[in-house]
Amino acid sequence: MATQFLLVLSVMLLIQSHGGKGDDTPISRFQQYLRFKTAHPNPNYSAPISFLVEQAESMGLTTRTIEYVRGKPVLLVTWLGSNPKLPFILLNSHLDSVPAEADKWIHPPFSAHRTSDAGLIYARGSQDDKCIGVQYLESIRNLKSRAFLPLRTLHISYVPDEEIGGFDGMAKFAASSDFRELNVGFAMDEGQANPGDDFRVFFADRTPWELVIRAHGIPGHGAKLYDNGAMENLMKSVELISKFRDSQFDFVKAGKAANSEVISVNPVYLKARTPSNTGFVMNMQPSEAEAGYDLRLPPMADPDLMKKRIAQEWAPSIRNMTYTIKEKGKLRDHLGRPIMTATNGSNPWWAVFKQAVEATGGKLAKPEILASTTDARYIRTLGIPLLGFSPMINTPILLHDHNEFLKDTVFLKGIEVYESVISSLSSFEGVSAQMI
Ligand SMILES: *[C@@H]1O[C@H](CO)[C@@H](O)[C@H](O)[C@H]1NC(C)=O
Ligand SMILES: *[C@@H]1O[C@H](CO)[C@@H](O)[C@H](O)[C@H]1NC(C)=O
Ligand SMILES: *[C@@H]1O[C@H](CO)[C@@H](O)[C@H](O)[C@H]1NC(C)=O
Ligand SMILES: [Zn+2]
Repeated sequence: MATQFLLVLSVMLLIQSHGGKGDDTPISRFQQYLRFKTAHPNPNYSAPISFLVEQAESMGLTTRTIEYVRGKPVLLVTWLGSNPKLPFILLNSHLDSVPAEADKWIHPPFSAHRTSDAGLIYARGSQDDKCIGVQYLESIRNLKSRAFLPLRTLHISYVPDEEIGGFDGMAKFAASSDFRELNVGFAMDEGQANPGDDFRVFFADRTPWELVIRAHGIPGHGAKLYDNGAMENLMKSVELISKFRDSQFDFVKAGKAANSEVISVNPVYLKARTPSNTGFVMNMQPSEAEAGYDLRLPPMADPDLMKKRIAQEWAPSIRNMTYTIKEKGKLRDHLGRPIMTATNGSNPWWAVFKQAVEATGGKLAKPEILASTTDARYIRTLGIPLLGFSPMINTPILLHDHNEFLKDTVFLKGIEVYESVISSLSSFEGVSAQMI
């Protein structure tokens, strides 16, 4: 009898350590979630949603799937708190991933292979951001097993299409009456890994602008020297923009600002030619020339000042230039305030969050602006405080890279961190006039 029991036990341990069938642990559930093929351009949303619904319902959480755009579901998981009058907490993550070039990976990107020596779990989405999607649920599982009861209701949202701008996902969800009814007082969304020992936390995104400048000029023979050609007019702007770029980059190089704290402006295309059947007419100076730039503005930047600079210096009509700016988000909320979440005493949630992380022995790095953008901007725009946070320390930053991985122990530590964060946030009684 005893030997039989030992045999069964050792087989079970063997199965656990090898991640075989029947294995049901936080790590194996993470691997299961990672195996869904959610990469663009054809993310499969139905399979991961079924999985998440099953997980959530098995824990006694309620779920609701809403489609604002056909085939692009938003999943909402809810843990009811005892005081429905208090504003709720929202934890967000996205379902989709960027594509992966399988032949450049050492393990297939949707295999969620876990190395036997270091415990590295390789998968597209392991850092960005399926880790937090599973950690939210696993931490609630642990809190429930300890009979923890939230005061504030907690919602977890899983949204589609973040990696392609979120227009059919969070943008529509945040603008919906469903979202307003959630009465969100504080939200969290993805952050980024840190190779160092501190947890990174993000209080704002930069806002992208797509700038196209166009020059018009007199066409002419390729052999002729004359003023005011389109190419010449454009090159004057290219030089001015380069100087501005240098002035911003100098702050970063001098250590006065982080990359994400300055206005970045990077050339992304140049277009000018007189076409011929084989390519370019080589003895013609073209009458039109165009350049495209990717601009990123931190929340403190003055959008009006930037527009003035573009109109007067970068694409002045006096030099026969025109321009278009496509703003991919706002820099100011409905009250004209920069869209960012305070990380000081003026935001009571900040102290709750910080203490919760520190209670697990963790330390927070200096709060940062994210260099790129996430779905967080749609929520912050509504005036709701939101922190970007993915608890991954001692981890190389591999989002969108080949061989994206997360170490098993880092993933498990993240569950512990969220247990502390979720229990603190959902127990926070708040201040009477909530600052949002
Ligand atoms: C999504 O994945 C599931 C499970 O792998 C599969 O059954 C289903 O056909 C897929 N759906 C689409 C639209 O590819
Ligand atoms: C602008 O275009 C006009 C009309 O073609 C031309 O006379 C003028 O020289 C141009 N100016 C510049 C700076 O290119
Ligand atoms: C808190 O930070 C915000 C900017 O994020 C600033 O405007 C405000 O003055 C600060 N308040 C306090 C009390 O330090
Ligand atoms: Zn992401």
